[in-house]
Amino acid sequence: MNNLYKKDEWLVVEEGFHPDMNRESESIFSIGNGYMGQRANFEEKYSGDSLQGTYIAGVYYPDKTRVGWWKNGYPEYFAKVLNAPSWTGIDISASGETIDLAVSKIVSFRRVLNMWEGYLERVFSVNVDSGKILEITSRRFVSMAEPDLGIIRYTIRSVDFEGNLQIEPYINADVRNEDTNYGEKFWEEISRDVTEDYGIVTSGTLKTGFHVSTGMTNHLLRNGKERISYSGIKDRKEYAGTEYSVNVKAGDNLTLFKYVSVLSSLNNEKENLEPDVAKRLKAALKKGYDRLFEEHKGEWERIWDTSDVVIEGDMAAQQAIRFNIFHLNQTYTGKDDRLNIGPKGFTGEKYGGSTYWDTEAFVLPFFLKTAEQQVGKNLLIYRYRHLQKSIENGIKLGFGGGAALYPMVTMNGEECHNEWEITFEEIHRNGAIAFAIYNYIRHTGDVSYLADYGLEVLIGISRFWSQRITYSENSGKYVILGVTGPNEYENNVNNNWYTNTMAVWTLSYTLENIDQLSTENPERIKDIFTRTGFDYKEETGRWRHIMRDMHLPYDEERRVFLQQDGFLDKELRPASSIPAAERPINQHWSWDRILRSCFIKQADVVQGLYVLEDRFDTETIERNFNFYEPMCVHESSLSACIHSIMASRIGEIDKAYELYLRTARLDLDDYNNEVSDGLHITSMAGTWLAVVEGFGGLRIAGDVVKLNPLIPDRWRSYSFKVRFRGRIFKVKVTKDAVIVNNLSNNELGIILFDDGYIVGSNKKLEVKTKTR
Ligand code: BGC
Repeated sequence: MNNLYKKDEWLVVEEGFHPDMNRESESIFSIGNGYMGQRANFEEKYSGDSLQGTYIAGVYYPDKTRVGWWKNGYPEYFAKVLNAPSWTGIDISASGETIDLAVSKIVSFRRVLNMWEGYLERVFSVNVDSGKILEITSRRFVSMAEPDLGIIRYTIRSVDFEGNLQIEPYINADVRNEDTNYGEKFWEEISRDVTEDYGIVTSGTLKTGFHVSTGMTNHLLRNGKERISYSGIKDRKEYAGTEYSVNVKAGDNLTLFKYVSVLSSLNNEKENLEPDVAKRLKAALKKGYDRLFEEHKGEWERIWDTSDVVIEGDMAAQQAIRFNIFHLNQTYTGKDDRLNIGPKGFTGEKYGGSTYWDTEAFVLPFFLKTAEQQVGKNLLIYRYRHLQKSIENGIKLGFGGGAALYPMVTMNGEECHNEWEITFEEIHRNGAIAFAIYNYIRHTGDVSYLADYGLEVLIGISRFWSQRITYSENSGKYVILGVTGPNEYENNVNNNWYTNTMAVWTLSYTLENIDQLSTENPERIKDIFTRTGFDYKEETGRWRHIMRDMHLPYDEERRVFLQQDGFLDKELRPASSIPAAERPINQHWSWDRILRSCFIKQADVVQGLYVLEDRFDTETIERNFNFYEPMCVHESSLSACIHSIMASRIGEIDKAYELYLRTARLDLDDYNNEVSDGLHITSMAGTWLAVVEGFGGLRIAGDVVKLNPLIPDRWRSYSFKVRFRGRIFKVKVTKDAVIVNNLSNNELGIILFDDGYIVGSNKKLEVKTKTR
């Protein structure tokens, strides 16, 4: 647990430099724009502990698999988003003394993340030249308006120093990932172009052959007016630098504007990269810092306008929700259907920057409710594009006939994960990908998606389930053996309730849609059957049997769903009985001990109750929640949010609030002691859901939305906006009233506390708050 950052509505502030927490702060203060991202590494040299991190979406390296014991079916490589050529560096020395915050005497230090305007700023002063003071203010942003641009404004004010300042902005392409399987370097230099106007380095990834050109142009002013020209250039392998040598007097200030453009072969022709970067730099310089910043800020204003959540009366909760929304929007903008959301986004190397089930199960619902329809659609298309690879993955594991097993971790559709208990067993991911199609359609009403793309994916996944099951002669039931459910603290179990339930759900949803499309669009269904080689009678006949006879473990006495067969053989005890010094258990206990314990890493049965909530009555949800929540240690970031939503669902507002703070402040307070690796971007979406679906009780029921809000004691009010089928509406909940503002030109059907209303376009509905 960490209590380092000051609480503020729109800012995250680190007062005083904490070198022992520098990696954590580098993650927290990261900036990004969906296209690229940057950890909060210092511009000037820093010889202390740091994780250098510059990332470009979609530019990855297939790092050869390294495992102790090779198992057939393992992938050849683990895709890693790369630490890309670094563009932030600016070396400073005063009368030959290099500024390095690990060595220099720091007089004051403040690091600020401004979430409203989307920038990172540091204001600090250091002693140089035996006690003279330089005050430095650096502000950095990656443009939301022009995503290839990163801009730094770096001001050095001499308080009482007189002498020579050397300033060297540079591009450094000699970079490595900290996390590599064989210590290899992933980049090589392709070319370099360093002139008095700019410095550009073009690098290429080994194996994948991506090219990236990273260029800078600089502009240095003394006292806001006098332009200072460069004194030399540095042109050496993988490095482009511009040197400035300036004599300063006390009271002088120097401002360096460093304009950077990063273009990659993902979006540009390789041969045009360098000239295009040069053009982009020229254009950026011409526009100038102020205009570029205004445009960037304008984009953030637009984002906040629909996605902000305002909480009155609780600064910790307010700051945290904005922190989560901010980072989500920095990670994914939904403009490119080849990109996705890695669990750490652009804030660290862990999880390789690749795509997990997190996207469909957590992040998609956030974007469906806050962003334009195309954003959600692009996330679905991403998986549609990977259908063929998922079928090949199925074949590799011994399935066939078009059975698709989507990968646990992927960059381009190929499986990258290499722990057998996850790669081969955590197959519930397929259920999340199927459910995402349903979720997209119920939010947007875009039923054409099914005929155009969705049904093929559903057929592939259903075929997988129908082959992955075993018919047990013994029980006369279909069973799914050898799986890992969402709770990764259990491996190789039989009949994980969540997995089996999602399998049956997928079969029935696929069947329903095949039948519907057969009536509505017989031509198209014929075409899909031909493309997929689908044998309606034979395949759906089998599916119907499975749907009818699937084993779903249940305990008659407690009347709860069982996480898996045999769960009740465990010694059942609450997580509160684990000594605090042994938490998190994954950092203190042997894996053996964890596997045998009853402790649950993350929502599992509760995840199923959440996803398929409308199938269960409140008592069922309550009974299961009360059984599992005490045993859940929430050691996955994806857990507390779902439990918080379900606690709200059953009216346990205090529990919901406790879990909300845990999910919302997971990174800011570093609950699980791992923020140094990067932030939990995908679970941040769960935090937003904990407000909107949890406290707000928002659900979709056919053509209308349902609201059943609660308000935590500490909050005076909270409000959020939601998109639903072409509408945007704002909900404000106070202790006395719920106010719904329909901000769109279409009527909105709403069920509020069980009463139905139609809210006219641009009209307001106000109803007294009720307790659940
Ligand atoms: C969780 C998985 C998740 C992964 C990436 C793991 O700790 O157990 O459910 O997909 O992290 O976020």
